[in-house]
Amino acid sequence: MLKRTKTCGELTEANICDNVTLTGWVAKHRDLGGLLFIDLRDRYGKTQIVFNEETYPEIFKIARKLGLEDVIGIRGVVVARPEGNVNPDMVTGEVDVEVTELDVYNESAPLPFDVNDRNSANEDHRLKYRYLELRTAELQHNMKVRHKAAKATRDFLDSNDYLEIETPVLMKSTPEGARDFLVPSRTHKHKFYALPQSPQTYKQLLMVAGFDKYFQIVKCFRDEDFRADRQPEFTQIDIEGSFFTQDDVMEMGTSLVQYLWKTVLDISLPDSFPSLSYHDAMERFGSDKPDTRLEMELQEFSEYVKQSEFNAFKTVVDNGGRVKALVCPNNSKYSRKVIDGLTDYMKTYFGAKGLAWMKATDGVLSGGISKFFSEDVQANIRKDLNVNDGDILFIIGDEEKVVLNALGALRLELAKRENLIDENAWAPLWVTDFPLVEWNPDNNCWDALHHPFTSPHPDDLDKMDTDPGNVRSLGYDIVMNGYELGGGSIRIHQRELQEKIFRLLGIADDEANEKFGFLMNAFKYGAPPHGGMAFGFDRIVMLMVHSSQIRDVIAFPKTTSAMSLMDNSPSLVDAVQLEELALSLVKDEPSD
Ligand code: AMO
Repeated sequence: MLKRTKTCGELTEANICDNVTLTGWVAKHRDLGGLLFIDLRDRYGKTQIVFNEETYPEIFKIARKLGLEDVIGIRGVVVARPEGNVNPDMVTGEVDVEVTELDVYNESAPLPFDVNDRNSANEDHRLKYRYLELRTAELQHNMKVRHKAAKATRDFLDSNDYLEIETPVLMKSTPEGARDFLVPSRTHKHKFYALPQSPQTYKQLLMVAGFDKYFQIVKCFRDEDFRADRQPEFTQIDIEGSFFTQDDVMEMGTSLVQYLWKTVLDISLPDSFPSLSYHDAMERFGSDKPDTRLEMELQEFSEYVKQSEFNAFKTVVDNGGRVKALVCPNNSKYSRKVIDGLTDYMKTYFGAKGLAWMKATDGVLSGGISKFFSEDVQANIRKDLNVNDGDILFIIGDEEKVVLNALGALRLELAKRENLIDENAWAPLWVTDFPLVEWNPDNNCWDALHHPFTSPHPDDLDKMDTDPGNVRSLGYDIVMNGYELGGGSIRIHQRELQEKIFRLLGIADDEANEKFGFLMNAFKYGAPPHGGMAFGFDRIVMLMVHSSQIRDVIAFPKTTSAMSLMDNSPSLVDAVQLEELALSLVKDEPSD
């Protein structure tokens, strides 16, 4: 086998006259009669190699038969490209390699799609041949960015005295918000391990063990509904520290993100990241992960409703509901059809009963519900809400949750339609003061908003028994460009308080003991106050490469229905395997 002396991405004018050996894939093939030009590609770049019939007729004969993606090795001499053929966009664009020796290692079958163009096949097809899609320049780049981000993470945390400690992948099934993936035990029939949704309990135990500052770049597994930014198995940068306050964690998280952006992208993020309470994030942006690259905010509208004749909204206000508005700049051009489309979107996905609107033209408000507002009230609306001619106002009145969620989504939809977001901007922020619990009307119980180990805010402890819905937690999220990049909390480190929270969450004492006894016991033996967070590592890389698909930054991702199309998993297993595990299937036919 020819051993490469150079990569396909490094030869320049300085190498002219050198004898070199290159290995790689045939990326392009041009036959100009007695001369044959091939772009040879490896992960470092492309080099043009030339076969000459006159000087090496035998080699030329073999080379002529080479096809796209064949794997070859060549020896040759670096020569200057003839004037006019220099490609200034390529590092290697000044030179060719005239081939003197050729080895063909593997001939490629006809390709299922063009690896120079990701868009030449639909995604399912590309996922089936993911190893080929990974050859595309885009995915090669994404994997490099991912590697750099992982390395920078380790460098940063290592230099700040964090220890990377691995935790088990087979663990006890413990509720943490999503559904567990279960693994049946062969040696302990009828018993199951679960794959970790996160190493949450282990990292807390590491604090009890005295490790002080821990981190891990770790796979997590969650059986939940998958979306563009969610995968069933994904990677976290998991971090925990003892004697940490919320400010300590937020400072560390800010520094890590600044370091990653600087090291990987050479971008200087702001010295400090703004912080918004959950309440303000919801009121101003209709989201707990607001995209603050866009200035448009939700505005209070109930006061004007009270002074109007619009009974539908008056009833909403009288019944304790909310009315809020969004002013979208320069879009009074929206036709009835466009507005109807937006209304359907609001109704179908966010449970809104409708979407009211008014347009600002020639100094007045017109159309939609404008006739229910007197001239004076209209003038106040224009002044207070800073409405200019050409703007359109969208208004929703409903119960609070519907109003905030629907307008939050409308805000993003309008931004997308009107290109209101600067795609090169970075808008990191922290969201704090989350409610500790939220009411789950389906199961008639309180659910933890972060997870059950999150500490209540010390100032709200007196409300725990009487008004749990208004107790804030010491939980926080970090958000970037509308994505939740990470989240965490200061933890409960006292057994009594943890027991109390379990009871609030409707987890009975014996259930708590059975599921979390190991953690509660650990708290008996000297548990330091501690807290931490976890970043979604895939999401960080996804943002870094300007993608909105988490699959673009995972080498072998699953589809949105949690399938791996390449190896066809999940798949059926042998009857013998099931027997060993003492399992039998309920149905003969797979649900698929
Ligand atoms: P949380 O559940 O908020 O917290 O997860 C932390 C971060 O992980 C990312 N993330 C995901 N990324 C891709 N696919 C998924 N299915 C997925 N689910 C979550 C998000 C999220 O912000 N143990 C706690 C952390 C802590 O309290 O320290 C935890 O796992 O970016």
